[in-house]
Amino acid sequence: MVHVVDHPLVRHKLGILRRDDVSTKNFREVANEIARLLTYEATKDLELESLSVQGWAGPVDVEEIKGKKITVVPILRAGIGMLDGVLDMVPGVKVSVVGIFRNEETLEPVRYYVKLAGNIEERLALILDPMLATGGTLSTTIDLLKEAGCTNIRGLFLVAAPEGIERIEREHPDVHIYTAAVDERLNENGYILPGLGDAGDKIFG
Ligand code: PRP
Repeated sequence: MVHVVDHPLVRHKLGILRRDDVSTKNFREVANEIARLLTYEATKDLELESLSVQGWAGPVDVEEIKGKKITVVPILRAGIGMLDGVLDMVPGVKVSVVGIFRNEETLEPVRYYVKLAGNIEERLALILDPMLATGGTLSTTIDLLKEAGCTNIRGLFLVAAPEGIERIEREHPDVHIYTAAVDERLNENGYILPGLGDAGDKIFG
């Protein structure tokens, strides 16, 4: 299922990232700002529990998030560019790291590093990647999380191509996708149009 987070703040910030002359510093800052807003949406249905605390005028009923079992899963490299923003919103979570790059000729995902948080089967996994293009990288990441026993998986993206969304809906219909925009299409090299260019290069220089 796709959730397009098209809040005016997100739309404005995405416009900054689309500029060809955006600086590395600005791209990093704004990507993390959007990541915070995507996290806000992607955690909307977290369960709360009530408890009583000592307030200034005596005991008061408050709520806190039940269980707090979340892991964020940045996909190397470019997913690192959203990590700080997500951690600002859910600071106590475990981080799982997945390294995948896309073979530039075949566009097939190549897996090179996986280190998942403990008790992954009990956790909500929030996958981070600025771009969902053909969907190969995301599908591989979901496969490996599911193989490890994870059943509650969501993905956060700055831009997504319709081709990648269709693939994930076909292969992993249980996974929720939160994206700041669904762009027009992929070009012949598998780049999203209008897209952001190479987000990894823009973040890492
Ligand atoms: C980009 C992007 C995604 C992937 C999307 O990474 O960050 O991980 O491509 O493509 P797909 O949906 O067609 O699989 P890239 O391979 O450029 O690696 P990098 O993050 O190391 O730069």
